[in-house]
Amino acid sequence: MLPELRKSVQSEGLAAAVEEHLEQTREHGPRLEEVFRALGAEPSSNLDPPVEKLVEHHDELAGSFADDRLEDVFHASAAATTEHHELSAYDALLTLAQAVELPSDVRGLLERNRAEEAEALRRLQQERDRLVGELGA
Ligand SMILES: [Fe+2]
Repeated sequence: MLPELRKSVQSEGLAAAVEEHLEQTREHGPRLEEVFRALGAEPSSNLDPPVEKLVEHHDELAGSFADDRLEDVFHASAAATTEHHELSAYDALLTLAQAVELPSDVRGLLERNRAEEAEALRRLQQERDRLVGELGA
């Protein structure tokens, strides 16, 4: 979703937040591959089904707003929803990792990804709220 969003958003602040998280996510895959290697498992490149649905839903509605500012609020909200889901997924993974006593260096890889998801969620929500505030101005 992020590469498409980066092209669609008009707001500089929102574009910067999307771009920053896009950069971070380039590190997420290799970290997850390292976790899989540590577990002796084979990683899959399949998109998480809920994220796939969120992207589908976003794509259905994208472009249907008459005002660019409303469209950006919609983009920010959709991106935040996805990040919220990802954050929940990392929380579940970390709980499981602790329960099965994965080594701390392996858990650390998940924690780094989780921290970046949390930061992305915070920034996207901040941008969404800022854009909503500007609507009334
Ligand atoms: Fe993310």
